[in-house]
Amino acid sequence: MKISMRSFMGSAVALAMLGTAFTSQAGVSDKVLNVGCEGAFAPFTYIDKNGQITGFDIDLIRQIGSDLGYKVNVRVYPFDGLIPALLTDGIDVIISGFTISPERAKKVDFSDPYYLCGLTYLTEAKHADKFKDYKKLDGEKLCVQIGTTGAMFAQKHFPHAQLRQFNSPPDTYLELERGGCAAVINDMPVNDFFLSRHQDGTKFASAHIDKDVDKEYYGIAVNKNHPEMLKEINRGLKLVQQNGNFGRISTNWFGYDITDTLKQ
Ligand code: ARG
Repeated sequence: MKISMRSFMGSAVALAMLGTAFTSQAGVSDKVLNVGCEGAFAPFTYIDKNGQITGFDIDLIRQIGSDLGYKVNVRVYPFDGLIPALLTDGIDVIISGFTISPERAKKVDFSDPYYLCGLTYLTEAKHADKFKDYKKLDGEKLCVQIGTTGAMFAQKHFPHAQLRQFNSPPDTYLELERGGCAAVINDMPVNDFFLSRHQDGTKFASAHIDKDVDKEYYGIAVNKNHPEMLKEINRGLKLVQQNGNFGRISTNWFGYDITDTLKQ
């Protein structure tokens, strides 16, 4: 059958219009937000027992997406693959307990902060006294996650330590349990989550890195070539804080509304 170009075009336009009518009628948005995260960073981004990506960050970005009218797709990458994915793999934003830092800000843009954090270290409980002062970690074997602020902190402050770098915090905990390092350094809520889930809570002790030396804020990272996306994300963050969704999601994950901690 020979279809004239004209009628072909006509039906294509009709189909396209039908498509528009259909999507708007069904209330389905065609705006898509592609999100990249790492998948072993509980309670922010991790795979649950059903194999689904979940966590505070995931609920937050899904809520921002839905309040702004986006369909949200989440893809999981290794932590040190997140910035490359944002630059080259069609990812619009990174959300992954990702600390705002001047070095990273050379490569990506950051949203307004949405979480205040700091580093803690876990040791075996029997060594807690010896490592009461975080400076005592210098000269020890330390386990950290590759590419994180914990790893950078250790490099800077513990020049005599032997750093052992792993792909995820769970790997650092395994190594601590096997006696392969004296301490692990990770973000406080992640270490706390591990301690709370660990069958024998008495086995490990946790201590803070001095708050005056380390205070970090998480931000959502956006490609520097997409300033309009950055605006959109900041608009979404404000919106979820004003409409109560941010408070509700943080209470679900942390037991209280963290909004005020961001004003410190
Ligand atoms: N907040 C730290 C950083 O930005 C650790 C982040 C690790 N995130 C993750 N999804 N594994 O370096």
